[in-house]
Amino acid sequence: MTTYDMEFLMLSVLLLSTLFLTLSFRLFTFKYKRTNGGYLPPGRLGFPFVGESFEFFSKGRKGSPEKFINDRINKYSSEIFKTSLLGEYMIILCSSAGNKFLFSNEDKLVTSWWPRSVEKIFPSSLQTSTIEESKKLRKLLPAFFKPEALQRYLGIMDLMARRHFDTSWSHKEEVIVFPLVKNYTFSLACRLFLSIEDPNHVAKFSDPFNDLVFGVISIPINLPGTRFNRGIKAARTVKIELIKIIKQRKKDLLEKTATPTQDILSHMLTTLDDSGQFMKEMDIADKILGLLVGGHDTASAAITFIMKYLAELPNIYSDVFKEQREIAESKEAGELLNWEDIGKMKYSWNVACEVMRLAPPLPGAFREALTDFTYAGFSIPKGWKIYWSAISTHKNPKYFPDPEKLDPSRFEGSGPAPYTYVAFGGGPRMCPGKEYARLEILVFVHHVVNRFKWEKILPDEKIIVDPLPMMAKGLPVHLRPY
Ligand code: HEM
Repeated sequence: MTTYDMEFLMLSVLLLSTLFLTLSFRLFTFKYKRTNGGYLPPGRLGFPFVGESFEFFSKGRKGSPEKFINDRINKYSSEIFKTSLLGEYMIILCSSAGNKFLFSNEDKLVTSWWPRSVEKIFPSSLQTSTIEESKKLRKLLPAFFKPEALQRYLGIMDLMARRHFDTSWSHKEEVIVFPLVKNYTFSLACRLFLSIEDPNHVAKFSDPFNDLVFGVISIPINLPGTRFNRGIKAARTVKIELIKIIKQRKKDLLEKTATPTQDILSHMLTTLDDSGQFMKEMDIADKILGLLVGGHDTASAAITFIMKYLAELPNIYSDVFKEQREIAESKEAGELLNWEDIGKMKYSWNVACEVMRLAPPLPGAFREALTDFTYAGFSIPKGWKIYWSAISTHKNPKYFPDPEKLDPSRFEGSGPAPYTYVAFGGGPRMCPGKEYARLEILVFVHHVVNRFKWEKILPDEKIIVDPLPMMAKGLPVHLRPY
């Protein structure tokens, strides 16, 4: 029996046993609709606890995640509908106005919210909420992602990309792209966040990471065999490993065999927090884990999708190749990529953005209503969760005519209208790793197109969302080296 079947079985039992509550629940929600001074948005709340989670997840697993949203946009409203997901009442906003509203009202009407599974998988060692901790993490990040720091990482990224292609791609006729790319982005993170280079040590983290990420957006049933249960165990394993590294680094800093600026770990160990204290080991482990999770599958999914579309669209490939070959030819043998080179990769970045429009690596994110408020004429009760969904604007022909067509020129000039392209989110919670991701993606594209052409082995391989978007079989390709 697969994990999915097990979860299905357990949920079916849960469903049956809670079915008799449905009627009373309905009465409650009906009453709620009247007492909150207005009407809730249109939509279905589905069964208690489970709501419409099954349909939401199964559409993603079948490769058509947009169907859940589009069906409801067609049935209810192009702006807003209600549903119930992951055990929560949920409002889904579907327009650029909705994105603007959410991104501009952070910590006023709404605040960031993550499913209960996240809180369980990453319990904060400081007894505060994960949200509080993520706010502290945001404060720390500018020092790590400022332009001078990024320029320093660029050379390391370039060196590591060369090594990655030499060891994992050269002399191979076929590769499966996604696991290799994950290895590239994860090794970069281990090197730049923790100064870990030994591939065996990197594997100690990366192996449990898949379980961790799968557990993050899963139905929170903590029973042996469920994704959620495996996610909790994986997070524990990674944290134990992180604590060992932190202890060793503290020693190395004292003995001056490590420097305070060598990576984000040293930075966290030597920076005082708001209350003038050094951060505790567990706290640092939480923060590094947050960063590794935020940057792990997102950037590798983006790179994998870029390779998918470049395989399918030879004209786009040839324009990217032209841009990258010119840069490669302008360099001395062995000379590393520099900041000006990245500035010249405009077309390649437009292609990457357009790929992330069609296949956003993070399909959306959650907020919680801090108070009762009204949006688009509907009332949103305090405590309800709100989800912004990238595909609802990315694939809307009103904002992106002929939305399924990959057309990098959409990003020329001032680019798409505000709040329509939201692959990195927007407002105060916009992705802090965007520039870091841009560098690792462009460095990868530079090397892959300068070394290879490739063809998909499975012409009809789908993009599935489970829980994050990925190629159903990891994108196996035939490589044609130059
Ligand atoms: C193509 C790659 C990436 C994409 C598409 C992406 C997308 C996003 C999006 C949409 C959000 C906003 C979520 C929200 O509105 O609540 C976000 C947040 C975040 N991202 Fe990224 N991300 C990427 C890469 C990275 C990388 C490389 C890192 C770290 C090195 C990172 C770290 C984070 C963190 C820590 C947050 C949470 C910020 C907060 O809670 O305030 N991301 N990302």
